This record gives sequence, C-alpha cells and structure tokens, in this order.
Amino acid sequence: MNSTCYIAGLGTSVPEKKLSNFDFEKIMDTSNEWIVSRTGIKTRHVLAEGQNISDIAYEASLKAIVDAKIDKSEITHILVATCSPQKLSPSLACILAQNLGLSSTSGLQTISTHNPSLVCFDFNAACSGFIYGLEIARAFLALHSNSTILLVTAEGLSRRLNFQDRTTSILFGDGAGAVILRNHGDYLYKVHDVSLGSDGDYCDLIQIGGGTEFEAKVGDVVDESFFLTMQGREVFKSAVRGMAQESLKLLEKNSLTVNDIDLFITHQANLRIIEAVGERLSISQDKVFTNLEKYGNTSASSILLAMEEAREQGKLKKGAKTLLTAFGSGLTWGSALLS
Ligand code: UT7
Repeated sequence: MNSTCYIAGLGTSVPEKKLSNFDFEKIMDTSNEWIVSRTGIKTRHVLAEGQNISDIAYEASLKAIVDAKIDKSEITHILVATCSPQKLSPSLACILAQNLGLSSTSGLQTISTHNPSLVCFDFNAACSGFIYGLEIARAFLALHSNSTILLVTAEGLSRRLNFQDRTTSILFGDGAGAVILRNHGDYLYKVHDVSLGSDGDYCDLIQIGGGTEFEAKVGDVVDESFFLTMQGREVFKSAVRGMAQESLKLLEKNSLTVNDIDLFITHQANLRIIEAVGERLSISQDKVFTNLEKYGNTSASSILLAMEEAREQGKLKKGAKTLLTAFGSGLTWGSALLS
C-alpha cells in the first residue's frame, strides 16, 4: 500500500485579541514572574466577542490553499482536529466546507470516480490532534490516491477556561492551523512516518465539560464542570514520559538516532516540559523550537503555529529531518517524522 504523504501547503491564524500575564494579574492572585518561570508563557491570543474558531480556521485554510498553489475545488477531504468545537454538531469541517464554498457537487466535477464526494468530519485527539490527523490523512491517501486533504487544527479553549482557576486559565490560548496533504505534485515536506498512542485509564486528568454528560435544561446556570479542569502535576510527568518514549520509538522504527534529527518541535504546553523532553532525548537545545511564550498552549494547533514560525525563520527546511511530538487529554500522544 502506498503511504506517501506530502505537506503541500501550510497556513496559520490566531485571533488579534491578546491577553498578557499582566492582564491576569489584574483578575486573579498570580504574577507575571510565576507564569513565566513555571510555564514560559508571556501572552496568548483569544477569540474576541462574536468571533468563532471557524473564522480563524477559515483564514488558516485559505493561507494553506494559496501556499499549496491549488484550487480549493481540488479538496476532497476536510479533517478538523479540535477539542473545543464550535458546536457539538454540525462538525467544524462541514461549517468550513460551507464557508469555503465547497460542496459535494463542486467536488464531483474534479474528483475521480473512486472518490466522488467531499468528506468532512471533526475528530478529537486533544493536543495530539495534528499528529493524529497526519496518520488519518495517510490512511485516506493510501485508500484514495488522488485525494487532496485539508487538515485543519482549530481551538478556542478560551471559551472553556474557568477564569477563577489560576492553575489552568493562564496556560491556554486560541489558534488555528491548516495543511494541504497529497501524495503527488510539488511539496514543502514529506511525512515519513507517524506513531500514535493513547491510554483511557488517565481520562480524568484533563477534562472539558459541556457535552451530553451536562444534563441541562433551558435557564440552567453552568458550574465548574463546564470548563477545563486539569491535574497539572500528573499531566506534566505523563507528558514528558509520553513524548520522549514515542519519539524514541519512532526513531528506532526508522533506524534513526536523535543525532540524525535537525529540528525538534514538540507540543507547546510548558517550556519546562519541552526542556525535560529534550533532556530525556539528549537533543541539543538549539535544535528545539519553541514559540509558546507568544501563544500559550493552543492544544491541537500548537505544532502548526510552531512549524509556520520555524519555516519563517528558515529553521524548518525541506529535506531536513524534523521530529514532531505531542501529548494531550485522553490521554493521547504521538510523534511524526518529516523531511
Ligand atoms: O496540553 C496538554 C496538557 N497540559 C499540560 O501539559 C500542562 C501540564 N502541567 C503544567 O504545565 C504544570 O503542572 C502547571 C503549569 C499547570 C503548574 O505548575 P507546577 O510547577 O506543577 O505547579 P503546582 O501545580 O505544583 O503548584 C505550585 C504552587 C501551588 O501553590 P501551593 O499549593 O504550593 O501553595 C499552586 O496553587 O503554585 C500555585 N499556583 C500558582 N501561583 C500563582 C498554581 N497556579 C498559579 C498561578 N499563579 N497561576
């Protein structure tokens, strides 16, 4: 089976509105000093009133389409990784299809008979969403070789943060990313391999409420369970272990060592986690890319925001070996190898 998968275009978008650590100082018992020293985060972007994740997902998608030099009508699949969907239903992928002006009918004009309609759905692998999405895309590409896949990550976690909880609300930001994935034509990066894992025994460690568990009736007021809750210390330890182990597993599977890696991009959750993973792998810190100080933890979008900035700085290069790794609620984790 042909598992070739290329990243042909890349785009990102964050809301304009920013929250700095000093803004948090005004509303809760915290300090810029604590947040920077414990997390590395200085600011994060958050959705403004009336703005939705479909807005930033749309912008990121258009940028990726332009970057890939394709016509949007070539898109056969829209896959959206999110743990903060705009609605329980319909999927953000279908909302995006509408906003992009795509439909099954327009798809039919250009797509081979093996793949006669546009396929749109969301999936939730939390902060590991982008890595999971690469593997889902590889499977679709193997089954339908003429596919042009728009893989989007879109998170609006600020809408599910409890701003009375200083242990979680200072960590997260909103953002979106998008890539065009194909197995033919010009490309930016090749996806060599992906390795995934999850463990439901730890599903209590990070939770976001608001699903059908919430037995609501009209007029009810929400409580803390509606928002994101996290057992930070436990997640910290599991994140370091999970990302390091999965990365080593993937390297070994591909007969590579850490020394072969030119650039290492991890999920941007906490600078101390990233440094600890780097230490476990004994990778030199100048190969480790971080930008969480500007965005905070944007969940599924963090790797794409980092990849876009690494590309702008000339650090993410075609042909160079790039190792990606992520970890999140579920628990879920995964690593991917690009070149
Ligand atoms: O995206 C995927 C998953 N998420 C993560 O990867 C996050 C993983 N966890 C973490 O990044 C860290 O555990 C946190 C940043 C959440 C917390 O850092 P920590 O070093 O583990 O702190 P802690 O939870 O052990 O708390 C230490 C102290 C506590 O006070 P006491 O009990 O020692 O008096 C907290 O109440 O720091 C206090 N604290 C704060 N103080 C000022 C917690 N949050 C704050 C805050 N400002 N914002």
